[in-house]
Amino acid sequence: MRVLFVTPECFPYVKTGGLADVSAALPAALRDLGVDVRLLLPGYTAVLDRLRVMRTARPLTGLPGLPDDAPARLLVSVGEDELPVYAVDAPTFFARDGNPYQDGDGNDWPDNHLRFAALAKAAAMIGLEGDGRGWTPDIVHGHDWQAGLMPAYLRFDAGHRRVDTGAVFTIHNLAFQGLFPGSTLPRLGLPADAWDLDGVEFWGQVGFLKAGISYADRITTVSPTYAAEIQGADLGFGLDGLLRHRTDRLTGILNGVDTRHWDPARDPFIEVPYTSDDLDAKPANKAGVRQAFGLDETAPGPLFAIVSRLTEQKGVDLLLANLPRLVGQGGQLAVLGTGGRTMEALLATAARDHPGRVGVRLAYDETLAHRVQAGADVILVPSRFEPCGLTQMYGLRYGTLPLVSRVGGLADTVADVTERDVLDGRATGFVFHPVTAEALGQALDRAFALWKRQDLWRRVQRNAMVRDVGWAASARRYTALYQDLIDEKTRRA
Ligand code: ADP
Ligand code: GLC
Repeated sequence: MRVLFVTPECFPYVKTGGLADVSAALPAALRDLGVDVRLLLPGYTAVLDRLRVMRTARPLTGLPGLPDDAPARLLVSVGEDELPVYAVDAPTFFARDGNPYQDGDGNDWPDNHLRFAALAKAAAMIGLEGDGRGWTPDIVHGHDWQAGLMPAYLRFDAGHRRVDTGAVFTIHNLAFQGLFPGSTLPRLGLPADAWDLDGVEFWGQVGFLKAGISYADRITTVSPTYAAEIQGADLGFGLDGLLRHRTDRLTGILNGVDTRHWDPARDPFIEVPYTSDDLDAKPANKAGVRQAFGLDETAPGPLFAIVSRLTEQKGVDLLLANLPRLVGQGGQLAVLGTGGRTMEALLATAARDHPGRVGVRLAYDETLAHRVQAGADVILVPSRFEPCGLTQMYGLRYGTLPLVSRVGGLADTVADVTERDVLDGRATGFVFHPVTAEALGQALDRAFALWKRQDLWRRVQRNAMVRDVGWAASARRYTALYQDLIDEKTRRA
């Protein structure tokens, strides 16, 4: 089974969020199941620098928006875990410093529609014509709006030929839809037929995510609960009707975590390694986090933490409304995050108002993210919606109890603490609903109550740490889905 995995970000090359972690770990898990999986990434400077020895596999002529005197090529190399990696080498689009999507001032690159149309087009070219070295995938699997046009190109570029290559499209976040003015359509190289209610058109705009949903043979998203939620008006972001229409093609497959990179027993970033049988080393890691965040090292209460993008989605404002409740009961808070100016300013003020109790690092820091997971007592994820969420699973693995809202993948991965569930080994954290400041406050109270029963706290930590959050089971679900699609194409042939 040959699969081309098309993604705009992948750890350790380039990462802005959970998609990068998934793009590193899922292909490795698929490979372990015998799938010939290869990555296709934009040829960002960071990718080409890291991969160094790359060969030209084939020219990529006709990428949307590229002038004729700016040729593009498909490069190939071997990357992390010995997985083959292709990169779209189009310096006009990808040789830029900084964030893959935005300039240094936080504005979206003005040609994002062309940049990611080029990625999607290259994916479809490989799907239809091969990589120039004798390899053609059975399945092209694209991720998020940046790869959304891939199924559209696969369909339309085939012309009247039958398309054997299957298109799988995964939604990691319906809130980012890749919407561009309708006037961009001709430059994207899509036919007028695509401008349709059942195609790329979304309220007068071109919707890249919508294209993926409209034209893919199979649509997946990253948790079963989110798959159900996005078919309703509340979390459907205007696409719920289309998703209901395609419900027989839509599946929720829960993300896993990379248990090699996120393992408290052998994490090179943390101060003292530990296991579920030997949690005595956790306090040493806590001391390190307190120091890093300027927190009082003798406070008795639990240390709460957030590691997150600071956007509306993540519900950090709900937590700020509860700061007096958290600090008043002896708790501390460490926040590692980046995001909108308003939220960053509010957090900076909170740290000033509660010296020694609230510490904030407005930075993106992979090492510190690991240290926080190892050193905190509770990881907070009070999201308004959460397609899957990885940080709560890192928390489980590190015995750092997740306190989460009951939405999306958070609902699918954390089991609430009730006395009975603590004793029979099910409880792994604190879950609240509805997603309001008051319900979050009550969950904080429950965390403080459990903290007073350290014997029970330990039990929940162990429950959490032994829970299987690896990729193996979900990778098997993806291979079953790929196989089903391959069989369907063969039957039609
Ligand atoms: P999302 O993809 O919506 O941002 P996830 O929970 O799926 O949420 O993934 C977030 C990933 O980004 C995790 O690996 C988390 O550790 C990481 N992360 C988020 N903010 C930071 C930060 N400021 N510094 C380091 N890592 C971060
Ligand atoms: C998105 C979602 C997050 C998910 C991640 C990886 O960024 O916001 O919930 O874990 O993708 O699938």
